[in-house]
Amino acid sequence: MLDATAIDRIVDELTKARSVTVLTGAGVSAASGVPTFRGAAGLWKSHRAESLATPEAFARNPQLVWEWYQWRRQLIADCEPNPAHRVLASWSRRFEDFTLITQNVDGLHERAGTRNVIRFHESIWEVQCWSGCQRSPDRWLNEVVPLSEIPPRCPHCAGLLRPGVVWLGEGIRPHVLERALASVSCDVFLSVGTSSLVYPAAALSNAAKSSGATTIEINLEATPVSSQLDIALEGAAETILKQIDDRLHNTAAFGKDA
Ligand code: OAD
Repeated sequence: MLDATAIDRIVDELTKARSVTVLTGAGVSAASGVPTFRGAAGLWKSHRAESLATPEAFARNPQLVWEWYQWRRQLIADCEPNPAHRVLASWSRRFEDFTLITQNVDGLHERAGTRNVIRFHESIWEVQCWSGCQRSPDRWLNEVVPLSEIPPRCPHCAGLLRPGVVWLGEGIRPHVLERALASVSCDVFLSVGTSSLVYPAAALSNAAKSSGATTIEINLEATPVSSQLDIALEGAAETILKQIDDRLHNTAAFGKDA
């Protein structure tokens, strides 16, 4: 049973909003079939993050790390955006000032047609030269599934390529962080489907609150930031976002269809 009063408040806030920023996490892609990291069926239940998603793990065993990324790339390639991605994509066209910051590396927001996406943890569909050779760009697109060679080799120096994602313990690229921080100064900030455990992404909702935004969380369960935000709604992103969107469509002030 969804919390009707909270949904009324969210619809009201969104109707008045000029600028909207949404932070998403793995929960938004769960309904597409992409496994989350934490929780009962999360990837970190059966896999050790330290063995698969850190620079140290790659230095130790690039073969193992690439096997895991190859598996995930194949799995994601077969997934489609779900109603949560689609609603957010339509909002990206409706709001004058809309930013979507995603921790997800799967590319499903982009595939749904979302505008102004900040890929906070970069993309599983990009690769980088592990040794950062002078001749290769910083990172580039590689959507080949499956890769013919594991680990793949840098076409410029024949050294190892690494997945172009941000691993645990690595920093967010400065210009990405800068854009994300600028976008938290908004009218409404939504945190959707993220456990709010991994920093610096987890700090964004409180930064938004400090800057005066109305802050909203949508998650299957409470997170460490729930009690600090203005509205915390428990439920599935794909259901709740759809319900909010249906209500917005019936609100004349929300403007024309995207
Ligand atoms: P997590 O796996 O930590 O959390 C997923 C969140 O989504 C949980 O809080 C779930 O309750 C919630 N959830 C699951 N299904 C949902 C649904 N259908 N609707 C709404 N909520 C749902 O994923 P993230 O918070 O994205 O980083 O994880 C953050 C980072 O930790 C990831 O980007 C990754 C990981 O280690 C790196 O690899 C650097």
